[in-house]
Amino acid sequence: MLRYLHALTLFSSISVSFAASADQWQSRSIYQLLTDRFAVRNNAGAPCNTSDQKMCGGSWIGITEHLDYIQNMGFDAIWISPVVENIDDKTPYGEPYHGYWTKNISSLNPHFGKPDDLKTLSSAVHNRSMYLMVDVVVNHFASVPSHPGANISSLNDFDLTNLSPFSSSSDFHPFCWIEDYSNQTRAEQCWLGDKNLALVDINTEDPKVVTTMNTWISSLVKDYNIDGIRIDAAKHIRKDFWPDFVKAAGVFSIGEIYDKNVSFVKDYTEVMDSVLDFPSFFALSAAFSSTNGSFSDLLEVSTASQQSYKRGVSGTGSFLENHDLPRFQSQTGDLALIKNAMTWPFVTDAIPILYYGQEQGYQGAKDPDNREALWLSGYVTENKTLVSLVKSLNAARKSAISLNSSFLTTPMTFISQENNQAIAISKPPLLALLTNVGQSGTASWNVPGVFDANQALVDVLTCNQYVVPSDANMTVSSSDGSPKVFMPATVADQVCEHEEKNIARKRRYGNKALLTIKAEWETFGITLLFMLSGWFF
Ligand SMILES: *[C@@H]1O[C@H](CO)[C@@H](O)[C@H](O)[C@H]1NC(C)=O
Ligand SMILES: *[C@@H]1O[C@H](CO)[C@@H](O)[C@H](O)[C@H]1NC(C)=O
Ligand SMILES: *[C@@H]1O[C@H](CO)[C@@H](O)[C@H](O)[C@H]1NC(C)=O
Ligand SMILES: *[C@@H]1O[C@H](CO)[C@@H](O)[C@H](O)[C@H]1NC(C)=O
Ligand SMILES: *[C@@H]1O[C@H](CO)[C@@H](O)[C@H](O)[C@H]1NC(C)=O
Ligand SMILES: *[C@@H]1O[C@H](CO)[C@@H](O)[C@H](O)[C@H]1NC(C)=O
Ligand SMILES: *[C@@H]1O[C@H](CO)[C@@H](O)[C@H](O)[C@H]1NC(C)=O
Ligand SMILES: *[C@@H]1O[C@H](CO)[C@@H](O)[C@H](O)[C@H]1NC(C)=O
Ligand SMILES: *[C@@H]1O[C@H](CO)[C@@H](O)[C@H](O)[C@H]1NC(C)=O
Ligand SMILES: *[C@@H]1O[C@H](CO)[C@@H](O)[C@H](O)[C@H]1NC(C)=O
Repeated sequence: MLRYLHALTLFSSISVSFAASADQWQSRSIYQLLTDRFAVRNNAGAPCNTSDQKMCGGSWIGITEHLDYIQNMGFDAIWISPVVENIDDKTPYGEPYHGYWTKNISSLNPHFGKPDDLKTLSSAVHNRSMYLMVDVVVNHFASVPSHPGANISSLNDFDLTNLSPFSSSSDFHPFCWIEDYSNQTRAEQCWLGDKNLALVDINTEDPKVVTTMNTWISSLVKDYNIDGIRIDAAKHIRKDFWPDFVKAAGVFSIGEIYDKNVSFVKDYTEVMDSVLDFPSFFALSAAFSSTNGSFSDLLEVSTASQQSYKRGVSGTGSFLENHDLPRFQSQTGDLALIKNAMTWPFVTDAIPILYYGQEQGYQGAKDPDNREALWLSGYVTENKTLVSLVKSLNAARKSAISLNSSFLTTPMTFISQENNQAIAISKPPLLALLTNVGQSGTASWNVPGVFDANQALVDVLTCNQYVVPSDANMTVSSSDGSPKVFMPATVADQVCEHEEKNIARKRRYGNKALLTIKAEWETFGITLLFMLSGWFF
């Protein structure tokens, strides 16, 4: 019993020191979820009509209860919806189930749970040595104008008294719609939204406002033991606002710079830890959403990002979907294209981010259809092609990271292919071969000199063996348009056995028994070692 208590103390001290840096996040793999749509408490079968744009009942407790689902796919971080209180008004765009319509940054969103529920989620995440990323909105509050639908002429068209802590007109920018997004002054100082629901633009030029925001983020991160923040609409605030804000947060920051232009996005990599790599996203999505997508665009954008961003693509967020974009599977049902596109984020220099539901084959197109309730899938993982794919990709990346201490710091290289529907990405010990010929096409790659002559490899997506020819010039083909991810057989064996091992371990111990085993471990060292190696649960 004493030992058990000892273990508990150590656990809480580990949690306290979790607040994570950019370097620590780089090895992570993030599962992005919408709190209202991921899981309801006690797994109750709540209905959820996506087109209705209403609250469906997901909560922090729901997430806490379903962390196994996320962790079993190999993710070691979650990104949850904004946590602060939102407006209650009826709007033509429904209810703020997504959490982005801030009303009071000093209060938590009661629809998602109580403060203690968020603390419980945070410690449950940390118990699994996972990280918690919280979405934060700094650019604006939301407000329904006093006369919805009527033209807005000034701040007087809004009742600011229920907003907090900013509620006087000097706390906000004077009214104007952005209209011209290419005018950066307007993008920063005018308003998003429309005459039915305005996103009242906070005056982030005002030193009082700046101090309040910095104090707020610092407390939020400390109070809930947050490991990283995702910054909404970051391009709508002046760049020199960010360094002090992210310093006050004290944890990893990754900004949403919704833009195709690498030269535009790159400036933000200088003022915060990282950005979501939108330029690469646009090119990625276009490259794989049909069999005539352009790989040269993807390679060009990706290379430009590597060369322009402060730390290259390393530590940026690579993604194929998010809550603002049509799901990839609304654009194509070709399983080969889907698998290739999904592989990309896991085999580049970036931090992979998967938007919940992609693994279940969700096909919602644009907002609000892309925000389906996950519980409607039953969280089934058995015989799910895309769940297995994600598991293998996470396992391969983890294995590469632990095998090669330079994996995270050495930029990927593209090995040029004669076939313009083939891409080869080398990031030793991983070699990813991608194609957009689709499921009825045949692709082939030539990869000379990456692996040694006669070296035994395994394609970790199929667990098929491959031996490198004696001239070290690999010729690989795929008759069903599937991607391939090769690793040396010595390491890949672990990835390919991963799934079987997991099942066997669960059978042996079950979850309760694990607590007892934990109690018997003598030292902090062993506990920490097991936590870090991700074997624990
Ligand atoms: C879902 O909501 C939409 C919009 O309110 C409505 O048109 C549709 O009939 C609803 N579907 C179901 C199955 O209730
Ligand atoms: C975290 O782990 C500790 C020690 O095993 C346990 O007492 C605590 O209940 C766990 N917390 C959560 C939220 O799972
Ligand atoms: C609102 O503004 C538009 C464009 O300036 C104008 O065409 C329209 O008549 C105005 N509507 C009202 C109700 O004032
Ligand atoms: C905002 O939340 C804080 C903390 O709960 C509360 O004290 C304050 O009254 C709220 N402000 C408004 C305008 O409701
Ligand atoms: C950008 O917008 C500002 C504010 O509306 C305006 O003063 C400025 O002239 C605009 N710049 C250009 C190049 O249009
Ligand atoms: C891309 O961004 C840079 C820097 O802001 C700008 O100079 C350039 O005009 C932009 N290019 C396009 C095509 O918008
Ligand atoms: C690419 O293919 C899609 C359908 O697969 C088609 O709709 C589109 O027009 C094609 N684009 C070009 C440029 O050929
Ligand atoms: C999964 O597939 C296997 C082999 O095809 C089959 O035996 C098993 O019943 C399937 N399980 C589920 C839950 O569909
Ligand atoms: C580790 O990565 C470096 C840089 O890419 C590479 O040179 C080296 O061969 C890799 N080692 C292994 C074992 O993959
Ligand atoms: C590798 O093999 C391909 C196909 O046989 C050939 O075209 C290419 O020149 C070879 N590359 C090297 C470096 O030997």
